[in-house]
Amino acid sequence: MIKDKISKIVKETIDELWGAKIASSEILIEVERPQNEFGDYAVSVAFALSKMLGASPNEVASLLAEKLNSKKLPEIVKIEVAGGYINFFLAEDFLKEELARIYKNRESYGKSKTGGGKKIIIDYCAPNIAKPMHVGHLRSTIIGDALANVYKTLGYKVVRWNYLGDWGTQFGKLIAAYKLWGDKSEVEKDPIKTLEGLYVKFHEELKESDSRRTELEKVGQEEFQKLEEGDKENRKLWEWFKEESLKEFEKMYDLLGVEFDTQIGESDYEKDLAPTIADLKNKGVAEIGEGGSVIVKLDRFDLPPALIQKSDGASLYITRDIALLKDRIKKYKPEKILYVVANQQTLHFQQLFAIAEMLGLNSAKLEHIKFGLVLGGDKKKLSTREGNAVTLEEVVNKAVKLARDVVEKKSAERQTLLSEEEKEEIAQVVAIGALKYQDLKEHRNSDIVFDWQRMLDFTGDSGPYLQYTYARLMSILRKSPTWKLNFQVGGWGLKLSKPGFDNLGEKPELAIIKHFLDFPDVLEKVGGTNLPNHLALYLYKLANLANRFYETVPVIKDENTPRRAARLALVETAAAILKTGLGLLGIKVLEKI
Ligand code: ARG
Repeated sequence: MIKDKISKIVKETIDELWGAKIASSEILIEVERPQNEFGDYAVSVAFALSKMLGASPNEVASLLAEKLNSKKLPEIVKIEVAGGYINFFLAEDFLKEELARIYKNRESYGKSKTGGGKKIIIDYCAPNIAKPMHVGHLRSTIIGDALANVYKTLGYKVVRWNYLGDWGTQFGKLIAAYKLWGDKSEVEKDPIKTLEGLYVKFHEELKESDSRRTELEKVGQEEFQKLEEGDKENRKLWEWFKEESLKEFEKMYDLLGVEFDTQIGESDYEKDLAPTIADLKNKGVAEIGEGGSVIVKLDRFDLPPALIQKSDGASLYITRDIALLKDRIKKYKPEKILYVVANQQTLHFQQLFAIAEMLGLNSAKLEHIKFGLVLGGDKKKLSTREGNAVTLEEVVNKAVKLARDVVEKKSAERQTLLSEEEKEEIAQVVAIGALKYQDLKEHRNSDIVFDWQRMLDFTGDSGPYLQYTYARLMSILRKSPTWKLNFQVGGWGLKLSKPGFDNLGEKPELAIIKHFLDFPDVLEKVGGTNLPNHLALYLYKLANLANRFYETVPVIKDENTPRRAARLALVETAAAILKTGLGLLGIKVLEKI
C-alpha cells in the first residue's frame, strides 16, 4: 500500500541523513491522509526529529523533502513542506494504475490477510429469555455484527456468539408468578408479552408490604432452587419459556439479517458454577463474605468487591461469566474476546476482567465494547426498566411503516410501477438500513437519538441516501448495456487496464480514485479501534464523491467513447465498494429504489 511505501521511504531517508545520530526505529512515522488541498498524504515526523536534532521542524522537514525529491518516486509527483509537515502529492499515472488494479478485483477489494486466521470471539445481541428484546440489544446486535463482518474481511476467524440470558434467580420469580397468576392459553397466545407481564406483576406485588415482599421473595428463591435442582415441573416450564422466546428472537434475527455461530447461553454453564466457585476459593481469589456468601475483593483494582455466590447459594451473572470465560479460553484459544454490551455494565466487565487477571485467564485480550443509550426524539431514554420498555419489534415495525410511506411517495413522484410486494421488500431493506446506519454512523460510546425523519432522509447522512446512491450508480450502468462487452473485447482498442483509464483526469475523477485507495486503511482502522463509525463516514464520503462525479462530468452522454467506458468503469468500482462497505455494516443494497 502507498501509505506503507511512503513510511518506508521516509524512514530510509532519515537513516541516510541522520543515521549516525538517530535510531529511526524509535520514531513513529505516521502517514496521514489530510482532508485538505495541501497534499494527498502528510507526514509529521519533522516535529519529533526537530527536538532530537535541535533544529526547527520546518528546517528538518525541508532537508528531508529535498532528499526525498531527489529520489524521484514514481508514485509521487510532488513533495512540499508546509508548517513542518511534509506533504506528498500522488502522480496521476499511479492513480490510474491503482484504479486498474482495484477495478479488476472490485468485488473482493478490501479483503486482507492481516488477521492471519487468528480467532476472535464476539459476544453480542445476548437477549434475555421471557423478556422482549429491547433497543439495547438492537445496538449490540448492529455493532457486534458490523465488527464481526469487518474482522472476517481482515482475515480473522470470527466466532459470533449470542450468549442468551437464560439463567438466574429471575426465573425463580417468573415461575412463581406463573404458578400464582399464569394462564397457559394466554401464554400460548402471546408468550413474551404475557410472561413479561407476569414478571412485572411479581415486582409490583413486592412493593405492597414488607410481609408480602418477604413472602414472595421466599417463594421466588425456592422456585429457583427447585429449578437448579432439576425439579421436573420447573424445568419444563423454563424450557417452554425458552422455546417460545427463541421463536420470537428468530423472527428478529431474520428481519435484521443476522446469524450466529453459537447460542450457548447462561444456563449452559450451570454445571460449571460449583467447580468455578470452588476453584476461586482454592486459589485464594474468593473468600467468605457476609452471611456465608462468597465474594472476590478487588481493592487492588480500585473496584468494589464482586459477589459471586449469594448466601442462599444462588449464583450470579458474573459467576456465569467467569465460567463462560474459562470455557471460551480453553475451547477456542482466542486472540481476543469482544463483549458488545451497553455502558451500564461497565462495572460488571471491570470486575470480570480483574478476576480474569487474578485467575491467570489473560491469554486472550478482553475488551468491553461499550455503547450508549438509545434516546427518543425528546432526548429521554427510549427504554425503561419498568415493564414499559420500548421493544425492538415496535421500533422495527415503526421504521418499516415509515419507510413504506417514503417509498410510496417516491414511486408516485417518479411514476415507477412497483408491485405491492416490491414496495414491501424495498421498505424493509430501507428501514433496516436506516436503523443500522443511524446507529453505526455515531461513535458507539455516545447516546443515539432516534430521529425518524433524519434516519429516512434520502438526501442526508443516512442509510437510505447510501442505498439510493448505489441504486443510481446501478441505473447508470443499466442504461449503458453494451459498454462492458465492448470494453472486454477491446472494442475501442482498450482493455480493462491502465491505458483505458488514461482517459480520466478531471478533478472529481481523481478525487474519487484517491478515496478508493483509502478503503483498506479504513477497514484496518475499524479493526484497530472497534469503531464502525469510521467505515460509515468513509461510505458517506464515497457516496458524496460519486454523486459529485456523475453530476459534474458526462458519463452516459460522453461522446468520447473510450472515456465514457473508463467513466463507466469508475461508476462500477464505486458501486462495488459501496456494496461491500454497506454489506460490512450489515446493510443491504437495492438495484432499484
Ligand atoms: N444478557 C445480558 C443482558 O441483556 C447481556 C450479556 C452480555 N454478555 C456477557 N458475556 N455478559 O444484559
